[in-house]
Amino acid sequence: MNSKVFLIGFMGSGKSAAGKMLAERLGCDFVDTDHLITEKTGMDIPAIFSSQGEIAFRECENDTIYDIVKKPGRLVIATGGGMPCSEENIKLMNFFGKTVYLKRSPDELYELLETETLQRPLISQATDLRTTIIQMLTHRSPFYEMASHVVEIQRHESLQAVVDRIEKVLDMAKLP
Ligand code: S3P
Repeated sequence: MNSKVFLIGFMGSGKSAAGKMLAERLGCDFVDTDHLITEKTGMDIPAIFSSQGEIAFRECENDTIYDIVKKPGRLVIATGGGMPCSEENIKLMNFFGKTVYLKRSPDELYELLETETLQRPLISQATDLRTTIIQMLTHRSPFYEMASHVVEIQRHESLQAVVDRIEKVLDMAKLP
């Protein structure tokens, strides 16, 4: 059994919480790419952005995909919100596993992120968070929509219900 399930989507969309629960249900390990990068570099995400810049962070993300796909066995991966936003990265993830886009509306993302910007360097300085989210989504959505599966999360849908739906699409796709 060698299948990877990558959860992708905008910051704040709930990839880590859903990923942990999904991994428990599938009886496999869970990793979060931001944690892997933090472990590898010995720096937290804001420190990497401020000392090395975004380009260096994106290179780290790309390396991390290669590290992940080398791991044997089934694995659920919560990815950083920008990780799939290059053709190379989304294609790699689609090639080596299933990708599930956890899609939320800009309004709900705004509500979820309003008090959660501090650890997120790309939005921590935003003067108009709602507009920033909309602009970033405009650029990123074409990459997110390249996911092998899209789960549109309803407003205030419970974590259990979201994970039920992820399991269902994976089941229909016959996860090896
Ligand atoms: C980023 C999302 C963050 C983290 C970094 C950049 C992005 O992860 O990787 O701050 O570009 O959207 P989360 O999606 O887990 O917040």
